[in-house]
Amino acid sequence: MNNLEGKFIVLDGPDGCGKSTQAELLSKWVELQGVSVATFRDPGTTAIGEKVRDILLDIAHESMTANTEMLLYMAARAQLWAEEIEPALEAGKCVIMDRWISSTFAYQGYAGKLGTEKVLEVAQHSLERIWPEVTIVLDVDTETAAKRMDRELDRMEQKGKDFHAKVREGFLRLADLGQDVTVIDATQTIDAIHEQVIAAIEEI
Ligand code: TMP
Repeated sequence: MNNLEGKFIVLDGPDGCGKSTQAELLSKWVELQGVSVATFRDPGTTAIGEKVRDILLDIAHESMTANTEMLLYMAARAQLWAEEIEPALEAGKCVIMDRWISSTFAYQGYAGKLGTEKVLEVAQHSLERIWPEVTIVLDVDTETAAKRMDRELDRMEQKGKDFHAKVREGFLRLADLGQDVTVIDATQTIDAIHEQVIAAIEEI
């Protein structure tokens, strides 16, 4: 299990896929293997990132373009890398991310129509590391996801059914970019999903 030291793992998927719950369960599992874990949410975690997150999710910012969104998500991520992720990886921790670049591909690149090539290009100029060891996509249909979000929605969550159907499609296309992506059916029980997440991690 020393193999988990210094590994960079991403959990991602559409809103309502349950990735935060799975990130928590995975963190506990990695710790039980005797490896130190650091779990971060993107956007957020750092003081700067949390402020950028507030700007991004504020429902008052209705006029925000997909391009502005991409640049802000990337800025929050660059800060998170420098302040938290890189030091954690260097210290040999297993880093578990609640979202990462895969979200920018799906939300801004694909659903927001910026194009995944543009997102990749900006990422190449902005980030020291783009791809994790593995990206686990928790796949959920828009109806199931909507039922799980029975609360006040933020600006991104409010974008509507068609947008979110595109987001899902964007996540499913990630593997086309030739990266290590594992898709798990996130309509299953929490325990069943957790087992499959672990199976995906054991492969690396
Ligand atoms: P969260 O609530 O899952 O932390 O994510 C915040 C919202 O931001 C969620 O609706 C997904 C969206 N998002 C993007 O649109 N692009 C991105 O690059 C990231 C990281 C998140």
